[in-house]
Amino acid sequence: MDINEIKLAIEKELGACRADIVKVVDQSSLNDFKGLHLGKKSVCSALFSQMRNVPSESKQIVGKLVVDLRQEISEMFNKKETELKNIALEKQLQNEKVDINLPGYSTKLGSKHPFFAVVDDITDFFVGLGYDIADGPEVESDHNNFEMMNIPKDHPSRDMQDSFSITDELVLRSHTSAVQARVMAASKGVGPIKVICPGKVYRRDNDATHSHQFGQVEGLVISEDATFANLLETLTLLLKHLFGDKRKVRFRPSYFPFTEPSIEADISCFECGGTGCKFCKNTGYIEILGAGMVHPNVLRLNGFDDSKYQGFAFGIGIDRVAMLKYNIDDIKRFYTNDIRFLSEFYKE
Ligand code: PHE
Repeated sequence: MDINEIKLAIEKELGACRADIVKVVDQSSLNDFKGLHLGKKSVCSALFSQMRNVPSESKQIVGKLVVDLRQEISEMFNKKETELKNIALEKQLQNEKVDINLPGYSTKLGSKHPFFAVVDDITDFFVGLGYDIADGPEVESDHNNFEMMNIPKDHPSRDMQDSFSITDELVLRSHTSAVQARVMAASKGVGPIKVICPGKVYRRDNDATHSHQFGQVEGLVISEDATFANLLETLTLLLKHLFGDKRKVRFRPSYFPFTEPSIEADISCFECGGTGCKFCKNTGYIEILGAGMVHPNVLRLNGFDDSKYQGFAFGIGIDRVAMLKYNIDDIKRFYTNDIRFLSEFYKE
């Protein structure tokens, strides 16, 4: 081969390489390209082995031409290899892309449980009238729960509250009047007292409107001049605050061992407005709370001079108020924590 033939072969090979490299689209066609143009059977290798037949005066020139050829083909190969790697990387990045436009997980904000909405409402009302708030244990002594409330052992009036006994001397408190006994003891016979006692209480009851556990707010006022008229005014204001100005309030005589005289308060029926229906058992009214003037025995038992002091007390059921206010059909709904029920009270 003379030098011109070699130059021609190099040109031809370069042309073939340029044509082939554009057809390379993946790793496998790139390997084929390498085998064909840089491998043992390539034109390049053949030219290298021809070198011994090249006359020595041309060897240097021909050698450089062949080395340059291999260099150029290698560059084509390298460029293509990088190109393919970049395409593969781009593809991988596309697949792994995090779409930041996707909506995130939203956090649902809860709202006050209807039970506590009522507790807070009643508490705010009485704090506004200058009452203190008192708290006590749910496991109470028989002494505070009954005896100090003028309900001696073996007296039939105990039957009014079917309680849970823990021992002969301990009960789950059946009303928060027990807290009032504690407040009176702490006052050591010195008035005035003006207090409300919100809290959970327990009785052996179980139907759609009664549960073994429910909430109460009881109130106690003891002073030298607290009157029955003050009691009626306080309860009327409370009931209008809770149920609206349109509700009529009615008081009936009643009996509680710890008050004398005792009353119960009713409000005009939500369903019929007072004309009588199934909901109010045709009375036009719904019973809502018990109250009365503190019995002189209770004053004396709790260390107050009943010739100097008098007072009034009242007790209202939290669950009952919430059921009437929000039209809830079963008291158990307050205690089962069903999210479908509770979400009815979400305020967005
Ligand atoms: N303690 C009574 C009850 O639980 C409610 C009440 C309180 C009634 C104060 C009158 C006076 O039923």
